[in-house]
Amino acid sequence: MPMQRLIRLALAVTLVLGALLLAANTLGSRSSAPPGGPITGDVDRGRLLFERAGCSACHTVTTEFRVGTGMAGVLQPQGPVYPSGIDYGGALPNGAPRTEENVAVFIRSTNQGKIGLMPGRALTDQQMADLLAYLRTLTR
Ligand code: HEC
Repeated sequence: MPMQRLIRLALAVTLVLGALLLAANTLGSRSSAPPGGPITGDVDRGRLLFERAGCSACHTVTTEFRVGTGMAGVLQPQGPVYPSGIDYGGALPNGAPRTEENVAVFIRSTNQGKIGLMPGRALTDQQMADLLAYLRTLTR
């Protein structure tokens, strides 16, 4: 390959890589978290995720029961409203204390409780932060 073509090729590759890097940076800056800093959840993104990730097929955002419990109160100490006869003593259906960390673990893993099966959902840390920010707004 003649030298000039080689140089042009190298230039083109550099330009494309530069553009990709720029795009990656722009996309990254859309997330509310500063690089290396703690992840901040966004309520609106969490609401969208709750609908798009299929949660709403099985959960209302009130105290009303669907396939699973309504999500109102899920991040409050008293927890959500359960159908009569179901009592986890304030804990999660898998017996873990009701902390945000444990709710995140619960959502990411498949759990069989007294009510039924909750299929686990793989979510990124940013998606989980958004989802938790939204769940926090669902009080009862
Ligand atoms: C196919 C139905 C189904 C889908 C989809 C589903 N869940 Fe569930 N979920 C359940 C059932 C059933 C339970 C009740 C488990 C039990 O207590 O036996 C549950 C329980 C839960 C609990 C625990 C509530 C408590 O008792 O404190 C949380 C939190 C939860 N789901 C969040 C989610 C989120 C967030 C999503 C979406 C990413 C989701 N679920 C998707 C069926 C589902």
